[in-house]
Amino acid sequence: MTPAEMARLHGASFTRGWSEDEFADLLARPSTLATSTATGFAILQVIVPEAEVVTIVVDPARRGQGEGRKLLNEALKAAAGRGVTDVFLEVDETNAAALALYEKNGFTRTGLRPGYYRHADGRHSDAVLMSCAIPAGT
Ligand SMILES: CC(C)(COP(=O)(O)OP(=O)(O)OC[C@H]1O[C@@H](n2cnc3c(N)ncnc32)[C@H](O)[C@@H]1OP(=O)(O)O)[C@@H](O)C(=O)NCCC(=O)NCCS
Repeated sequence: MTPAEMARLHGASFTRGWSEDEFADLLARPSTLATSTATGFAILQVIVPEAEVVTIVVDPARRGQGEGRKLLNEALKAAAGRGVTDVFLEVDETNAAALALYEKNGFTRTGLRPGYYRHADGRHSDAVLMSCAIPAGT
């Protein structure tokens, strides 16, 4: 998937979407690990033995059909191949779909950052911190 396509999908999901140039910069970093399909992508930052899930997005028309799980699991498998053993992320506590995706795929809650996200309407929400240990041989 191209940086332009990533920017389009990301912008359709988040009020402060990232630009094509920002995705191009991200993808050019050796620490970036990306998996994608025609309608979604996942991006991790890898600093062995740890990795962080930066973002994962599926086209709204394709959600709820297992694509997010596939993208996440492919990314975790590729990270394991680079020597990653522990993966971290933060997610908006109001993002039920993302919380479900992560919790059903091995991530557990490790902490909370109160009021971390600020929404366009001025509302604040907490960030849930999560982590996942990747079993050896994944
Ligand atoms: C989060 C996101 C990537 C999930 O992608 P998806 O393709 O819809 O996810 P899947 O179909 O693989 O579902 C994964 C699990 O989460 C559950 N789930 C998905 N959407 C859900 C929802 N709205 N509410 C509750 N559970 C949900 C599914 O039931 C599934 O569980 P199962 O394996 O038991 O069936 C997608 O909703 C998205 O792009 N959201 C906008 C961007 C975003 O918020 N990204 C995450 C933060 S960076």
